[in-house]
Amino acid sequence: AALSLASLSAQAASTLDNILANNSLRVCFEAGYMPFEMKNKAGDDIGFDIDLAKMMAKAMGVKFTPVNTAWDGIIPALLTDKCDILMSGMTITPERNLQVNFADPYVVVGQSVLLAPALQGQVSRFQELNQPEHIVITKLGTTGDIVAKRMLDKAQIRVFESEADGVMEVINGRAQAFIYDLPLNAFYKALHGDKLVHLDQPFTYEPLGWAVRKGDPDFLNFLNNFLRQIKGDGSYDRLYQKWFIE
Ligand code: ARG
Repeated sequence: AALSLASLSAQAASTLDNILANNSLRVCFEAGYMPFEMKNKAGDDIGFDIDLAKMMAKAMGVKFTPVNTAWDGIIPALLTDKCDILMSGMTITPERNLQVNFADPYVVVGQSVLLAPALQGQVSRFQELNQPEHIVITKLGTTGDIVAKRMLDKAQIRVFESEADGVMEVINGRAQAFIYDLPLNAFYKALHGDKLVHLDQPFTYEPLGWAVRKGDPDFLNFLNNFLRQIKGDGSYDRLYQKWFIE
């Protein structure tokens, strides 16, 4: 069939067009993943992802619209257009990448262990948790969940919907360990001091990326260039220093 001029100039609509038309960047995240996203006492959303999202909205000249979404429904929320982008500390995994596209990684993390102080000295590496008597906690539907079930198949793995509740199991002596992304564990260690031991050698490699709907090269191009710019001009580093415990 002959190509018409119209078909040559036709372009698939980009999410960028909707963002500009609505004057709003709608960002899905799940508060509770410190220090990326959390609520302050006043109920406002704060954190590294939130500051990055505000910076992005500003660069687009639109307002930032937070869409706090339960973790287990966050990809469906994107796919059903409840938001324009996921900025939620999501690990880029092949399984997720079949459903969504990811911009280039904006930070790399790994899993670490928050250990009950009673096991200090007995357990110094995550593999040593792989015993039937050990109760290991993580969060539902996360890479912690996947890796705990795969690598600690002899231990009792229990999944929680909130990070805070999961960590409490260890603090209150109902579990031996909590497995999760290192930055959150470092945050809770700083909060609870000697009630937790942090085995802070990450044992997985996890690039985190912003996720968008598939088939939208214009939006991906915007995101990767935005990321390159803020990494080069110092604004990314400024936010990183603000939120992360080294
Ligand atoms: N990086 C982990 C994952 O992708 C945990 C991310 C959790 N994010 C959140 N906002 N609760 O599975």
